[in-house]
Amino acid sequence: MNAKAGPTSLPEIDVEEFRKVVRSRRSIRRFTDDPIPEQVLEDCLELATLAPNSSNLQPWEFYVVQTPELKAKVAHACLGQNAAKSAAVLIVVVARPDSWRDHARQALKDWPEETMPPIVEKYYRKVAPIHYNQGPLGVLGLAKKAAGLAVGLTRPVPRGPYSHCEMKIWATKSTALAAQNLMLALRAHGFDSCPMEGFDECRVRKLIKLPAKGLVTMVVAAGRRAENGVYNRQYRFDQRQLVHYL
Ligand SMILES: Cc1cc2nc3c(=O)[nH]c(=O)nc-3n(C[C@H](O)[C@H](O)[C@H](O)COP(=O)(O)O)c2cc1C
Repeated sequence: MNAKAGPTSLPEIDVEEFRKVVRSRRSIRRFTDDPIPEQVLEDCLELATLAPNSSNLQPWEFYVVQTPELKAKVAHACLGQNAAKSAAVLIVVVARPDSWRDHARQALKDWPEETMPPIVEKYYRKVAPIHYNQGPLGVLGLAKKAAGLAVGLTRPVPRGPYSHCEMKIWATKSTALAAQNLMLALRAHGFDSCPMEGFDECRVRKLIKLPAKGLVTMVVAAGRRAENGVYNRQYRFDQRQLVHYL
């Protein structure tokens, strides 16, 4: 059943279908020549952007590299990895630590309901500009950090982002979640992916003409998995080592 999604009506979920998607996703190092249909790619990108993200400021961008010539150049910049060379599409997943101001304004303008809850309006109009603005050379961030240290002695306070560097982490967290949604969506459509951080960032940036403040979080190679596309058995460390119930 596919009930209309809403606060009171949720679709029925089949956890086994979800498990299949998660369990069958692997990092694929060789793809077939099959293209990814345009509507599949579009759907996967839309599902990617439904990832949870900080303050709903959506600090990401996706550069979809499809044309053979540019794809070959980006694959070369991905250190000539097989996953990149054989992919049908290379998606450069970019974090934008600098887009929060424009996106806050856009949220105020494009709010999808008749009236914006006052608390949300206050957040985008007043809180976000304080929270995310680090000021020239990061001086505002330093002032916020000092204030946070003082006030934090007596009550819980947000401990950042307090610098341009922390803004990069801020944007990268949300962007990585979108990348994961993208890869799971590809799997759900019967396609596959390989996230890559093995790339020459300078070259990738230049090839996709990325504005100076954008950060390449990952390049996601995507396509149909080849028979020899999985290099080894999937393994993870023992849960008892890494999961802590408190
Ligand atoms: C941030 C990130 C960067 C990665 N970079 C590469 C890469 O450059 N090349 C590659 O072949 N795999 C890369 N991988 C894939 C990992 O090697 C892979 O996820 C890991 O070995 C676990 O295998 P699995 O994804 O099949 O479960 C990357 C994964 C992540 C999350």
